[in-house]
Amino acid sequence: MRKLASVSEIRSFLRPHRQAGRRIGFVPTMGALHEGHRSLVRRARAECQVVVVSIFVNPTQFGPNEDYAAYPRPLDADLALCREDGVDAAFCPPVEEMYAPDSATTVTVSRLTDGLCGAHRPGHFAGVTTVVAKLFNIVQPDVAYFGQKDAQQAVVIRRMVRDLCWPIEIVGCPTVRESDGLALASRNAYLSPAERQQALCLSAALNWACERIAAGERAVPALIEGMKRRIVDAGPCSIDYVEIVDADELTPKPRVEGRCLIATAVRIGKTRLIDNRVVDADRLAR
Ligand code: PAF
Repeated sequence: MRKLASVSEIRSFLRPHRQAGRRIGFVPTMGALHEGHRSLVRRARAECQVVVVSIFVNPTQFGPNEDYAAYPRPLDADLALCREDGVDAAFCPPVEEMYAPDSATTVTVSRLTDGLCGAHRPGHFAGVTTVVAKLFNIVQPDVAYFGQKDAQQAVVIRRMVRDLCWPIEIVGCPTVRESDGLALASRNAYLSPAERQQALCLSAALNWACERIAAGERAVPALIEGMKRRIVDAGPCSIDYVEIVDADELTPKPRVEGRCLIATAVRIGKTRLIDNRVVDADRLAR
């Protein structure tokens, strides 16, 4: 595996592969790799001839009071996992390589970034779409892999790629969970043992909502109220949101109809956790 830090190096590495018509798969990450990332890498390895992983903690997607400085950066361990999973190149640029001091260009996706995490993390998605656009221009992959845990991110990136006519297939991969249901996330490392236990309230609330929907409940306010109650009952926390929205347009739904995204973001102690489920109510309907 090659570890490459500059744009010119990764371009030179990929040029002969592209000329030979090899399918290039790309997994963008911020490092602190876990089984969720590894599932994306394995899928890329199974479907592509060349696999590139980027490891870059992107400053522009963190708010001024967020955890950019504290975000885990276990680069050697990450590179070892990439090697183990058969990655061909790990692109690990320093911040100066990605952002010139006088950088003046931002890529934004409107509407889809207004709600959910976008409403609670101003500027976050502009940072994500800008860095992903840059990474796509650098790597020029045929296919890129994103986890469903960041459901809004996947919807936003899919739309950006379609709107900008990039010939890149976006593959969404299922959320990987611990055996007790906790969605894997690099930020889980911040949780104390007690908070780790409490954090199960996110997946428990989502499971409860899915069971109610399967049993015939369609009223969104009742589902949101029940989910919030379950989260609050688990212990002290601050709920950023519990919402049920259209899974593709991310617009609020008064009733559960069609493909819906049930999404939540909750702060437990200093850790902000997100989780979601997609349900297709039409498939459940008898
Ligand atoms: O999902 C992430 O880890 C990041 O948002 C991404 C897509 C790598 C952009 O920095």
